[in-house]
Amino acid sequence: MTKPIILTGDRPTGKLHLGHYVGSLKNRVLLQNEDKYEMFVFLADQQALTDHAKTAEKIRESIGSVALDYLSVGLDPDKSTIFIQSQIPELAELTMYYMNLVSLARLERNPTVKSEIAQKGFGESIPTGFLVYPISQAADITAFKANYVPVGNDQKPMIEQTREIVRSFNHTYQTDVLIEPEGIFPKNESAGRLPGLDGNAKMSKSLGNGIYLSDDADTLRKKVMSMYTDPQHIHVEDPGKIEGNMVFHYLDIFAPEENKAEVESMKEHYQRGGLGDVKTKRYLLEILEAELTPIRKRRLDYAKDMGEVFNMLKKGSEKARSVAGQTLSEVKAAMGINYF
Ligand code: TRP
Repeated sequence: MTKPIILTGDRPTGKLHLGHYVGSLKNRVLLQNEDKYEMFVFLADQQALTDHAKTAEKIRESIGSVALDYLSVGLDPDKSTIFIQSQIPELAELTMYYMNLVSLARLERNPTVKSEIAQKGFGESIPTGFLVYPISQAADITAFKANYVPVGNDQKPMIEQTREIVRSFNHTYQTDVLIEPEGIFPKNESAGRLPGLDGNAKMSKSLGNGIYLSDDADTLRKKVMSMYTDPQHIHVEDPGKIEGNMVFHYLDIFAPEENKAEVESMKEHYQRGGLGDVKTKRYLLEILEAELTPIRKRRLDYAKDMGEVFNMLKKGSEKARSVAGQTLSEVKAAMGINYF
């Protein structure tokens, strides 16, 4: 029996933070270790270039750091194929063929692309590559015949568009070479989007409100101690608010099962008055430390030999290339452009 295939990727545009960790990395590692799936994880550098063409060095730098983030959370190159998108030219070739099956109007309707265009301020100069990236994403997914694609909620339109392309291709060329993937989305909104340390709805590099997987113990401590709580909670004995208090929000997300009861009684105590922010922050810090210490250790270990990290990426890319090449020849045969 062949195992169902899981594929997922990230744009390498900076180091990964706790939001990435609870939103997807942690779950990927669990899926990997279930041993029931064949797993592909990749660095979508070509997609990142669609809006960073002139700052390509940022993408290049991020390849090493995101690869370290992957390895340090427990993605294991012996179990998962980890590769770099740009090293698989077959993906670009598939994109060419799929482009003929998608109208410009359909691309312009993609809600995620629409909001990204507004947010990035392209004005009248939307790069063509940016507009078509959902098609290239369909190539990423179908080249590996992925059955499942675990991604954030913002990626729903990409999965939908991929499914349309698969149906259109299989119908047009009367074939079944392409597989319709299913998205796996975060179950609850809180895991889908981790707010920043300052209480902003989103943890992001540009807002400077993130905890990074690569932060050392001292940085983590300073960040937790500076978290947004309840500005009205001035004296320890004052009653405090839980809603919008990042310390309690993070405790809800990160506290392990055996700490849940204690967290609930801390919430009551805090609301009653008499529980200080320093105490709640120290408590959260301990929980985060327990989660992040092994990650930090693995990172330091891997970082000693970046040559080996790139070697792992190279091997993963070679394996990925042979899988994508097989799909590409089936696609060309289905289209009847296998002349020789
Ligand atoms: N668009 C995804 C993101 O921004 C990255 C990505 C590119 C991807 N190709 C993919 C994710 C294929 C899943 C499958 O996070």
